[in-house]
Amino acid sequence: MKADTGSAYPSAPAGPGLNAAVERYYDTTLDLYEDLWGEHVHHGFWDAGERPGSDDERHAATDRLVRELVAYARIPAGSRVLDVGCGIGGPALYLAGPHGCTVEGVTLSAAQAARANEKAAAAGLGERAHFHQRDALANGFPDASFDALWAVESLMHIADRTAFFAEAMRLLRPGGVLAIATWSVRDGELSPQEHRVVDQILRHQVMPSFSSLEEHERLAAAAGFTEVSSVDWSANVANSWEPTFAQVKELDNGRAMMRDLARDRGVDVLGFFYAGPLMLKGFSTGAMTYGAVRAVKPPADAATDSPVEPAGS
Ligand SMILES: C[S@@+](CC[C@H](N)C(=O)[O-])C[C@H]1O[C@@H](n2cnc3c(N)ncnc32)[C@H](O)[C@@H]1O
Repeated sequence: MKADTGSAYPSAPAGPGLNAAVERYYDTTLDLYEDLWGEHVHHGFWDAGERPGSDDERHAATDRLVRELVAYARIPAGSRVLDVGCGIGGPALYLAGPHGCTVEGVTLSAAQAARANEKAAAAGLGERAHFHQRDALANGFPDASFDALWAVESLMHIADRTAFFAEAMRLLRPGGVLAIATWSVRDGELSPQEHRVVDQILRHQVMPSFSSLEEHERLAAAAGFTEVSSVDWSANVANSWEPTFAQVKELDNGRAMMRDLARDRGVDVLGFFYAGPLMLKGFSTGAMTYGAVRAVKPPADAATDSPVEPAGS
């Protein structure tokens, strides 16, 4: 996305303060997200055209998004997985539980990592899922140590996406699979009005920039991944921002609650409340999109595929 120098809004966070701002945002909104979305900090997935109903259906929809990504990316059961940006462990506990994986999760938020470890222990999965407060780009894991690298709605917070794909290549074993679900923007230039909405989303959600799904594919291919593909799920996830459940219901109470929260936790916490109306606008104009990306690290024999010289030649 090109810089919008005419924008009336401050630019999205970037630079050395970014990770600290992301950490603060998730530390201070942990209980709000858990109230709204349960153990998942990501969109729900519905069939296109389906209307969301009760709270229970909302939770079923966030569970479903995890299963959709497992199916789309073809994550083998029993894989050793790195969950980049693990939140409070919702997706990882599905991978470690019904899908039989072992999972290491990293998040910038110490509060999220602690909550995720607590939930893993409560689910009897403490041996199979471990969560750490670490930066995805400085994670300390050895080369080729994972069968799958899983990143659900975390890549928008990482400014250097080229570095992310290079790190994913390093961490995956040959033949390993990369599975991403991410907020994104339409490929190509946005109008000034679209830019203004997108800029506000970036600022309130502590995200440095968005890439299009096509750009994610280009970056994955440039990093050396093969079998690169993406799917646009915008129509499947847009219900997540349905006003009946994604916004403060009692406006008067809501305003008072927001004031109190901002006083107690700092104004950044308000980004949680601004997301709904802004995302609805972004999706309805088509400027905001959402999708999944799959890519595979080439198998070892592909990397060393030089013709074998016949003996004695
Ligand atoms: C929207 S939440 C998604 C959480 C989780 N993937 C889920 O689906 O429930 C974004 C997550 O990305 C994490 N994150 C953002 N930037 C990160 C980075 N550089 N390193 C590690 N985690 C990061 C945040 O700490 C947070 O846990």
